[in-house]
Amino acid sequence: MTVLRLGSTAPDFEADTTEGPIKFHEWIGNSWVMLFSHPGDFTPVCTTELADISHRLPQFVSRNVKIIGISTDNVQSHHEWIEDIIEIGNKTAPTCVEYPIIADPERNISRLYEMLDEQDETNVDGEGLPYTIRTVFIIDPRKKIRTMLHYPASVGRDFDEVVRIIDALQLSEQHKVMTPCNWRKGDDVVVHPSLSDEEARKLFPSYKTQLPYLRTTSLDNQ
Ligand code: BEZ
Repeated sequence: MTVLRLGSTAPDFEADTTEGPIKFHEWIGNSWVMLFSHPGDFTPVCTTELADISHRLPQFVSRNVKIIGISTDNVQSHHEWIEDIIEIGNKTAPTCVEYPIIADPERNISRLYEMLDEQDETNVDGEGLPYTIRTVFIIDPRKKIRTMLHYPASVGRDFDEVVRIIDALQLSEQHKVMTPCNWRKGDDVVVHPSLSDEEARKLFPSYKTQLPYLRTTSLDNQ
């Protein structure tokens, strides 16, 4: 089995989803993707997560990011569960689940993406079979894996953080910069260490040298 790392090509696959069959790479097209797994349908934490993603879908669309969920239940079960997600979501904002959820009852895709963790004893079904863990894969338009997050079953994800990572990744594609600790969109960034001072001055005329190896700049006028 191929071990997935940052920079690996996201494995291609064919699957049934709540929006019909897909070929993953074809479906990605020229977009970024957030592929996220959830342990199972009709589970409380996941229901809150999928409702939240429904509310914030415009944040992903505006960043050219497609969303796709996956769990080991079948399409029929996903459709029934979506009714609950809508009910919970509607308590805070109008809710539609306008992204596909992959059905992976054989756990083929879950295995391909190493989403199963037999060692997590808190994350098994009634028969002791592992559920998918809470993973997030951020994949770029070249189909490269750019981020992998693994959360335990007991902790719901922070999708503000996922959006923050996407912003940081997309920024570093546009500019020779990195983002410092706790960076938020609009904050100063770190000039890429691979640039000489001369190159940095050309690209970021008003950069500041905080330490010989830590140069920061605003991107406001870029
Ligand atoms: C959940 O609520 O997401 C969940 C509950 C039990 C096991 C795994 C996940």
